[in-house]
Amino acid sequence: MFSHEQRIYSKNMDESKLKEGSCKYHMIGGDGPNSYAQNSEYQKQLLVSAEELIHELIDKHLDLENPPFDPQNTFKIADFGCSIGPNAFFAIENIIAAIVNKYKSNQNKNPNHPIPEFQIFFNDLVDNDFNTLFTNLPTARKYFVAGVPGSFHGRLFPKSTLHFAHCSTALHWLSRVPEAVAKRGSTAWNKGKIHYSGAGEEVKEAYAGQYREDMEVFLNARGEELVDGGLMVLVLIGFRDGVLCSDSSIGGVFDILISCLQDLANMGKISEEKVDSFNLPFYYPSPSELKGLIEANGLFNIERMAELGAPMRRNPDAQVLTSHLRAVIEGLIEEQFGDGIVEELFTIYLDRFAKSPALLDDRCWKETNYFVFLKRKPSFPIAEPLL
Ligand SMILES: C[S@@+](CC[C@H](N)C(=O)[O-])C[C@H]1O[C@@H](n2cnc3c(N)ncnc32)[C@H](O)[C@@H]1O
Repeated sequence: MFSHEQRIYSKNMDESKLKEGSCKYHMIGGDGPNSYAQNSEYQKQLLVSAEELIHELIDKHLDLENPPFDPQNTFKIADFGCSIGPNAFFAIENIIAAIVNKYKSNQNKNPNHPIPEFQIFFNDLVDNDFNTLFTNLPTARKYFVAGVPGSFHGRLFPKSTLHFAHCSTALHWLSRVPEAVAKRGSTAWNKGKIHYSGAGEEVKEAYAGQYREDMEVFLNARGEELVDGGLMVLVLIGFRDGVLCSDSSIGGVFDILISCLQDLANMGKISEEKVDSFNLPFYYPSPSELKGLIEANGLFNIERMAELGAPMRRNPDAQVLTSHLRAVIEGLIEEQFGDGIVEELFTIYLDRFAKSPALLDDRCWKETNYFVFLKRKPSFPIAEPLL
């Protein structure tokens, strides 16, 4: 007989989950004009709009009367899917400021709680450009830093060692494209498309199934790593219930992208077969889907779910939006088609995108960004093995 805790431990400590596979699910490194560092204002604005909520909720839910700290009084925070900065620094410094405020306001009541030291773990996939991240670390920082390479779809930390987890605009990345979608002959084969947007129900269900599996693994892993009462902030892209991806600017972007790939195939620059088997590993949940997955997992209380603004709506610009897309998916394009077509692809894409007034129209901006604040429930006692 295994307890619930033991079951999730063995599932997540599966050997395969600890292999640090190399893959192209990472942003463009460095700080050149095409880099993620120079093209992540959208993601930055989401963090800005979450700033006050984080202060309010840390103040309310960080339990200083029962702090589960180690004897050195170190507060440990991990940013999952940190990329290469500078957004990660912004997010972490906001979290630290909120925690310090909470300690300071509590000191009159309880002077026995000195402000802790902070240790920050920056996590991303092994091929992430950690060098740029570390080179650009703020020099005046008041925290200690370590990099943690590997997929957040699995365990990355020892049990009960983190106090706070943060993950922004990263959870829409699936651990892989669902197999059936790229398989010729399967009912979910996604020929002629590169995403579930505008595709048949089987394709959408294959993506949704992969997302369910990935979120369960993510929540189980974080549930193991966080101390009881530990806090977690998720910022993620989704669609309100009933809104279709295909009716949105994201769906429109994918339609333009596939038309550009098809043109390159028609010119003989890439193979049609490669276009047919290319699919983007992104899934955008609805709030009720997300809530259902967190509740079914059962390890966290949902303290707050809120909508954040959609930053690019304010000032859409074809060049800026194309550069954002390129910074995020260039690795995937290179992996599938080689690096020879990247420049040409994004030149054609920009031209076509700029001529699609519908995409710059307010009515297409239907994606919604969600803020979720979670608190780790007390863990279940681990059952003694039956003799
Ligand atoms: C759009 S960026 C967001 C970066 C940063 N959090 C921000 O707000 O600007 C998404 C990041 O998630 C990372 N990522 C995707 N899948 C991942 C996984 N399974 N494990 C760890 N990181 C992952 C990507 O490499 C990328 O750096």
